[in-house]
Amino acid sequence: MKQKIIQIQYAIYEKASDLEEVDKMLIDKAIEIAKKSYSPYSKFPVGAAVLLENGAIYMGNNQENIAFPSGTCAERTVLNYVHGNFPNIAIRAMAITALQTTTKTPVTPCGFCRQVMVEMERLQSTNIRVLLHKIGGITYAFDSTTDLLPFSFEEQFLK
Ligand code: THU
Repeated sequence: MKQKIIQIQYAIYEKASDLEEVDKMLIDKAIEIAKKSYSPYSKFPVGAAVLLENGAIYMGNNQENIAFPSGTCAERTVLNYVHGNFPNIAIRAMAITALQTTTKTPVTPCGFCRQVMVEMERLQSTNIRVLLHKIGGITYAFDSTTDLLPFSFEEQFLK
């Protein structure tokens, strides 16, 4: 029997003023769009903002439905839009935030969204930086979506 340990490295910024301007701006966009979330059932508004390599920014929020599973998370709302419209423009970074968290730490994306984030990164030659932000508090920064989902389901399994 062998045992392996997986290590994940991420940066912790205690306050927004410690962040680079570009990160701060992307987080502000995630906060802005979270405020327009349609989340009457969970009352848990989430926002996600994506920065493309050409400098363009796109935003998305969670969109719920009375038939609960029909709802969509903020991350997939924006990623599906971006990939549908600009499949050949690489994503440089993504910021995610939730407005109503009681935790001191940032909200972390659900497994479903992580799998989508990993695939978006696999389709391009550069990593996607991921910023998870707690409103008025700390930010976690990951260099790659794969840091958030070791053992993701991969293309090769289907071959
Ligand atoms: N939600 C997101 O939008 N992103 C996440 O990463 C986690 C959860 C949404 C889905 C649902 O509308 C609400 O938050 C509560 O789960």
